[in-house]
Amino acid sequence: MGYIMVKGGHPLHGELSVQGAKNSVLPILAATLLCNDTCRIRHCPHLRDVDSAGDILRYLGCDVRWDGDDLVVDTSGLSRWDIPEHMMRAMRSSVIFLGAILARCKQVKLSYPGGCELGPRPIDMHLCALRTLGATVDEKGGDLLCRADQLVGQDIVLAFPSVGATENAMLCACGAQGTTVITNAAREPEITDLQTFLVEMGAHVQGAGTSTITVTGGIPLHGCIHRCIGDRIVAATYLCAAAATGGNITLRGIDCRHLATVIDSLRQAGCTIRCTDNTIQLSAEKSLHSVPTVRTAPYPGFPTDAQAVLMAALSGAKGATVFVENIFENRYRHVPELIRMGASVRIEGRVAVVLGSSSLHGATVHCTDLRGGAALVIAALQTPGETHIFETEHIARGYEDIVRDLRTLGATIQMIEET
Ligand code: UD1
Repeated sequence: MGYIMVKGGHPLHGELSVQGAKNSVLPILAATLLCNDTCRIRHCPHLRDVDSAGDILRYLGCDVRWDGDDLVVDTSGLSRWDIPEHMMRAMRSSVIFLGAILARCKQVKLSYPGGCELGPRPIDMHLCALRTLGATVDEKGGDLLCRADQLVGQDIVLAFPSVGATENAMLCACGAQGTTVITNAAREPEITDLQTFLVEMGAHVQGAGTSTITVTGGIPLHGCIHRCIGDRIVAATYLCAAAATGGNITLRGIDCRHLATVIDSLRQAGCTIRCTDNTIQLSAEKSLHSVPTVRTAPYPGFPTDAQAVLMAALSGAKGATVFVENIFENRYRHVPELIRMGASVRIEGRVAVVLGSSSLHGATVHCTDLRGGAALVIAALQTPGETHIFETEHIARGYEDIVRDLRTLGATIQMIEET
């Protein structure tokens, strides 16, 4: 793979439609296993992680094909209940198949997802939820074998509102007899989108968006057509990019209520933001200023996935901003790369202090993770120098085509393929 070359220093301007949400599509693809039928997922982003989920579904015996931006999944041929290790490794969120396969097949074998670039990714809460519904879980080496002769609806209390554990609990509860109540559930918009999909398939699920979700089981469900919500983190990325360059952009296909905390921070940094139905328009002054402490938290708090991109935008602002990362241990890996570009950032444990600097400059930098990679692009867009960004495969996990999108907004950015 090559590198991304950016020549920054120009304000972004123009309009863009935001891709479908990766974090919605992945659990929805797992949820297709709850029917014995065909589902059409509209507005599905063309991403490596989506292809990896498609590979898993095909391995399980399903038929998966693209039809433009629709992904069409026929699960009637399901013939396996295991996922091989290399497929588990290809996509960290593959663990989301656990609850769905268990619900449909009453057994599932897969390898433990292990750690990732953000630090350890434990799944204790996922397993606890499945056990509560009646599954036995055997962990041997890196393998996990879950079985349940019968899944029975129960009260599940999550110790923390984990997104993945909430999704696994919802999917598994669809295959249980009776009613499950999930307390301290995650409230992310992607959970609500999963509920919408399940209801469209004929499931009885309610409460998503609040801390209590109720599922009355009963499968198989039936096929459906579903349109995914717009990706709030991709939208946050382009808003931060426009803000950092003193730009003026309009994003379409995004619900601004999903971005309330990000919009609030950008307004405090001096941007003017107007929201209408499904549209966000941002205009920014030439330079931003620092904002009150940004603390990442479960939704509706400030999203951990938007921490790096806001930090990059504020690294060229006037004044100091404090970030407190409360969700993942290892989420400041982009900081040394920002420093190579002239940013002034000090980290102590979960806290990072960004002292806005007007001396950002072009450099050769490496992506360390998905959102950290997008942050480097934002830093590069602020400096008139030339930046070369390597290991962009991280960015491709979450952005359909960041180069195409930013070019649409007037950036001088190019993917340079190396031979
Ligand atoms: C999802 C998102 C990810 C986002 C994160 C937090 C997807 C595909 N990914 O990840 O982009 O950054 O939500 O908004 O939707 N934890 C445990 N035990 C568990 C489960 C989680 O200790 O069993 C911890 C995690 O280590 C982490 C925290 O809980 O510190 C939050 O994790 P969780 O909400 O589960 O995130 P994911 O679902 O993995």
